Order: sequence, then structure tokens, then C-alpha cells
Amino acid sequence: MYANARSAPTRSAISVPHLHEMKSKGDKIVALTAYDASFAAQCDAAGVDVVLVGDSLGMVVQGHASTLPVSVDDMVYHTAAVAHGLGSALLVADLPFMSFRDAATALHSSGRLMAEGGAAMVKLEGADWVLDVIQALARHDIPVCAHLGLTPQSVHKLGGYRVQGKTKVAAEQLLADAKAVVQAGADLLVLECVPAALAKRIGAEISIPTIGIGAGVDCDGQVLVIYDMLGITPGKRPRFSKDFLAGRGSVVEAIRAYVDAVRSGAFPAAEHAF
Ligand code: KIV
Repeated sequence: MYANARSAPTRSAISVPHLHEMKSKGDKIVALTAYDASFAAQCDAAGVDVVLVGDSLGMVVQGHASTLPVSVDDMVYHTAAVAHGLGSALLVADLPFMSFRDAATALHSSGRLMAEGGAAMVKLEGADWVLDVIQALARHDIPVCAHLGLTPQSVHKLGGYRVQGKTKVAAEQLLADAKAVVQAGADLLVLECVPAALAKRIGAEISIPTIGIGAGVDCDGQVLVIYDMLGITPGKRPRFSKDFLAGRGSVVEAIRAYVDAVRSGAFPAAEHAF
């Protein structure tokens, strides 16, 4: 029942320094998206370290063709719902399209996600002009997860949801951007749809943990959209995902299988990478 969603935590709370420690020890970080209290509680019970309220909710919950229509109000609503279901996992919330267009707007949006939503970290896509925004957030002690590679909020500029960093020039730019977001003060970096060899190189050259989605097994952790890994997202499953519910009896078992597979390095396999 929803009323029982926030049960007593069975493990100590995951903090930002804890994630840094996991990288230095070589312990894999397991992340998964959630958009409501019930799924959040299942993630927590299964041992997920980081729960991300992604703006992917615009596609998988709201049914839009992209993440662009998602508002800060939507994100605050879903982040607060997820917070009610979590015990120990670190709660990260996406800054949606245009909600971090300058430092002042980003501070306002992040303040809402943290104070009203209960997030412990905010995630934002891009580098370049975004570096100033990351710096402003970090200066205000707001933990930041950067997001590079395929950045879905740039879908129209990118011309589709495509693997990034495939040419030598693009790969060098991605590496430079990764180093720049660290320099600006990011605590975590999501790498989406980049060649596995490039993600491995980036992870080896930066001090903060990398969380991959379609970025190969050598990232410091993995993230998936929960409906993709339960096999319920309509349409074709993305190559980088896997249906962990197939052959299992419950959602929590499926999430536990994902947690085990990430921790052991069994997921992602070569067939899920580029
Ligand atoms: O919005 C989202 O769910 C994300 C993950 C795919 C990393 O950004």
C-alpha cells in the first residue's frame, strides 16, 4: 500500500561523498529512474543506489514524443512523489528544458526540486554555456549531475536520438566537455549513447563517477529508464536496455536482477553497447 511506501531503511543512506567513494573503490553504482512512490519503494527495496526522476517522464509517463514539454511543476510533483517512497537511495531530479537557461533560473528551479521535491542532486544536460550554470549551482552547494553524449533536450539540433562521439573530433570534444563539467563542479556524469571505448577513456580521465546508459560496461555505474527494463515502454526496446522482468515473477525481483547484473559487470553486455 502507498501508506507503507516509506518503510524503515534497511541500509545507510547513499550520499554524494558515498558515490565518490564507490568510484575510488571500484564498486559499481546502480541507478534507475522512477516517477512515483510505489516504484521508488521497489527500487529502494531492491538495493538501487541512485533513483533518478528523469524528464524521460515526458515520454514514458505523459506520452509525449520528446522530453521538451516537461515543466518544472511536473518535475517537482513527480520528485516529491518519489521522495515519499524512498528510504536510502540518493534522489536525483532532472532540470527540464529551459529551466536552467541561465544561472538565476537554474538556481530557482533547483531550489524548487530540492526544497519542494526533496531531491539531493539535480541533473542537467550539456556543456559549453551550461558550465557557468554548473558553477553557480556548485557554488551554492547544490550537487550537480552533468549529462553528456546524447542529450535528449537537444533532439532537434541532433536530428534524432543518435549515438554521439563517433568521430575522432566529436570524441575529443566529449572528453574535453567531461573534463570541463568536472572543473565547473559537477559531482556525477551521465554518459548517454556514446561508444563504449570512449566512455571507458572518459571514466579513466575524470575524478567523478560516470553513469552510463548505452555507454558500455566500463562506466562507474549504470542507469536505465525503469519502464524500459520492465519491458513495458511501448514500441521497440532501445538496444542499450534489457527486459529484466522477462522470466521473473515480480517487479522487485526484476530490479534485484538488474542490481546484481550491474554490480557483477554482467550488464551491459557487448550487445547493449555501441
Ligand atoms: O530522463 C532520463 O530518464 C534520463 C536518463 C535516461 C539518464 O536522463
